[in-house]
Amino acid sequence: MAALQPLVRRRLAQQALRVPSNIRSLQTTDRLIVPHPATSHGQVASTQQTANEVKKFDTAAASQNPQDQHKPDSVEPGVNNTFNRFNLSGGTYIVTGGSQGLGLAMAEGLAEAGGRVHCLDRGPEPSEHFKVAAERLLPYDGGRLFYHQVDITDTGALNDAIVKISDEHKRLDGVIAAAGIQKISPAIEYSVEDAKSMLDVNFTGVLMTATAAARQMMKYKCQGSIVLVASMSGMIANKGLISPVYNASKAAVIQLTRSLSMEWAKVRDDGIGGIRVNALSPGHIVTPMVRKNFEEVEGLRATWEAENMMGRISDPEEFKGAGLFLLSRASSFMTGNNLVIDGGHTAW
Ligand SMILES: NC(=O)c1ccc[n+]([C@@H]2O[C@H](COP(=O)([O-])OP(=O)(O)OC[C@H]3O[C@@H](n4cnc5c(N)ncnc54)[C@H](O)[C@@H]3O)[C@@H](O)[C@H]2O)c1
Repeated sequence: MAALQPLVRRRLAQQALRVPSNIRSLQTTDRLIVPHPATSHGQVASTQQTANEVKKFDTAAASQNPQDQHKPDSVEPGVNNTFNRFNLSGGTYIVTGGSQGLGLAMAEGLAEAGGRVHCLDRGPEPSEHFKVAAERLLPYDGGRLFYHQVDITDTGALNDAIVKISDEHKRLDGVIAAAGIQKISPAIEYSVEDAKSMLDVNFTGVLMTATAAARQMMKYKCQGSIVLVASMSGMIANKGLISPVYNASKAAVIQLTRSLSMEWAKVRDDGIGGIRVNALSPGHIVTPMVRKNFEEVEGLRATWEAENMMGRISDPEEFKGAGLFLLSRASSFMTGNNLVIDGGHTAW
């Protein structure tokens, strides 16, 4: 019997890990007010566990000024509600390029925080990694991953998918535009067609994702959050990687972020607006895209590892927290900015 105890303890610890402990304890705290996951205080999170707690929130008591909707929650002194701001339960989210790599890792992070996450990607089937992740997530409270085949360069299909997902849930709380392509080629060898097809995905596709999402957020008066995945390659020319148009496309995404955020940030009198737009600029991450680069360019991995302060390349999982931060109320005063996470690469 005594010999079984460590095993039982390990099992219990593993079970505890399956549901983020912060979220579970927050959801079961009877003094907790659960506002809308990423947007206004008055809207209701949909999980059964949170429903009773949400009822306790008196929307009439909330400020009449829509600009005040993101003011800190009013909770009793002594209640720790910081992690509540990361809780996405009841919210609907979309991640393009969510079949694999960085998009999938961030989608998983959102689902782990309780969000319903719809991943859009060009393949008829998601990757095996997606299937494993979706299966693993099933026991979580509310958080789920869904897959839709959508090519983001097909603007009509992209818009239809975003409308359908939003109409189904009557809301859209956040979007991560992570779909992107890369091509290694010297500038003088770039054809017009190659340049166009790169920009069609990395710039126009991202713009159309953001605008389609914003239209739905406006329709449902969701003060949502949009994250455009750029890259540190939008700020520097990457040593060892000849990809001039890719780098330029990412610089365009960083600038697009500022312009869109300026248009959509304020909440109008009719309740429309309050949509935040930020860019995320990662350094090197070992994803299928980068593994292909390593096959194409000898010694590239070592070059890149030597180029940042930490002397290593990152894993996609290291961006889960950033994606969740940007899409949740934890970043409620952040818009028009570019979050750079690159192991110090661009700080040298
Ligand atoms: N891996 C890195 O080091 C790194 C660094 C900085 C930025 N990024 C950016 O992160 C994003 C994700 O990159 P990744 O490394 O995970 O690459 P990846 O190739 O592993 O994943 C990209 C995903 O986007 C999808 N996609 C491409 N074109 C599409 C289209 N037209 N319609 C729908 N889906 C499409 C792909 O099918 C794939 O699933 C990209 O925007 C990339 O530029 C990556």
